[in-house]
Amino acid sequence: MIKIGIVGVGLYGLNHIIALKQRELYRKDVKLVGFAEIDPVKLKEIEAAYGVPGFADYREMISKTKLDAITVVTPDHLHYAIVMDCLKAGIPVLVEKPLSTSLEEAKGMAKAARDKGVLLQVDFHKRFDPYHIDLKLRIKEGSLGTVQYGYCWMEDMLKVGTDMIGKKSWGDQGSPGWFLAPHMVDLSYWLMDYPKPMNVRAHGFKGKLSSMGIDIYDSIKTEVEFANGVVITYDICVVLPNSHESIVRQGVKLVGTEGFMEVNSQYRGARGCSSLKGMETPNLGMMYRDFDKDGRMIRKGYFSESICDFIDNLTYLQEGHSLADLEGKYASGEQGVEITKVGVAIHESIRGNGKVVDISKW
Ligand SMILES: NC(=O)c1ccc[n+]([C@@H]2O[C@H](COP(=O)([O-])OP(=O)(O)OC[C@H]3O[C@@H](n4cnc5c(N)ncnc54)[C@H](O)[C@@H]3O)[C@@H](O)[C@H]2O)c1
Repeated sequence: MIKIGIVGVGLYGLNHIIALKQRELYRKDVKLVGFAEIDPVKLKEIEAAYGVPGFADYREMISKTKLDAITVVTPDHLHYAIVMDCLKAGIPVLVEKPLSTSLEEAKGMAKAARDKGVLLQVDFHKRFDPYHIDLKLRIKEGSLGTVQYGYCWMEDMLKVGTDMIGKKSWGDQGSPGWFLAPHMVDLSYWLMDYPKPMNVRAHGFKGKLSSMGIDIYDSIKTEVEFANGVVITYDICVVLPNSHESIVRQGVKLVGTEGFMEVNSQYRGARGCSSLKGMETPNLGMMYRDFDKDGRMIRKGYFSESICDFIDNLTYLQEGHSLADLEGKYASGEQGVEITKVGVAIHESIRGNGKVVDISKW
């Protein structure tokens, strides 16, 4: 039985609670023993809703609950201190993407995990989308030949900019280059088995959100060039009208010498319109609802697969395997560092009016 805790139960921390509570209920190999949350209102609400003890300070949670593992779901720029405290105490960590918005911090976490021999995993959940898993297999089998170029897009509604990235509590630290881009950068890197990146070039546009008093980029266009000559373009934005039929339009296309494959990672063929919700195309790959035998509603999908993979990895280690046995089979701290490199380079390139940033020696 793995005793686990969560730090940060804001918007996405709720999904960690759902995934872990369901795992506790149906697989019984994990127990959510506590969560930490600095917002006293959220702390009380979550305690009442889920019957899990809440702590205002994660250090108190660690010492009082004697947990075996932790998930960190604090804002993008506030992962470091918590992750480091856990790793130093020998506690395995699943941290939300991006690992960090600072390259120094990201490298520090990856190194601390290696030095201590403790599992540090990043929640890059697009790796768990069955469409992406199959695409990776096709690439491995050679059905695309040698990949030459690709394109990823993740274009979100304005409310993601206003209500999620532009949250007051995130100050000036929010950016679609951190909140959204890491999903697609990791996805493309992972599909291609993490080739060596050389250069990053990006353009950022401001206007819509800044006119609303939120000083973050509306959109970012990025090109990453790899040592093998492959170039991937990433289009990221948070200015889709809030009336759009889904919170996000997203997908990936890779083109090789023998073929291409394009996955629409949002529109899965389910489209409808209702008085209640208007037009909608729900991404049922990420989350769909079902019922257990007792009629309780449960939530399935790759959001949960990704969190539960951390539990699977911990179980695998408990069974006597080593971190070396897991190598290449999970989103490691080092891979998190690679994605942070791109995020840092994106923002540096934008500040330099689209200058090419050489990350090959970072
Ligand atoms: N995988 C995904 O699809 C996905 C989606 C959304 C967010 N995220 C990631 O999840 C993380 C959190 O994002 P969010 O949108 O939930 O942010 P949020 O601001 O809604 O929630 C973060 C919570 O952390 C709490 N917090 C901050 N510092 C704390 C500390 N020291 N101890 C305890 N609690 C603390 C805040 O009070 C807040 O409630 C980010 O890294 C984000 O990129 C991932």
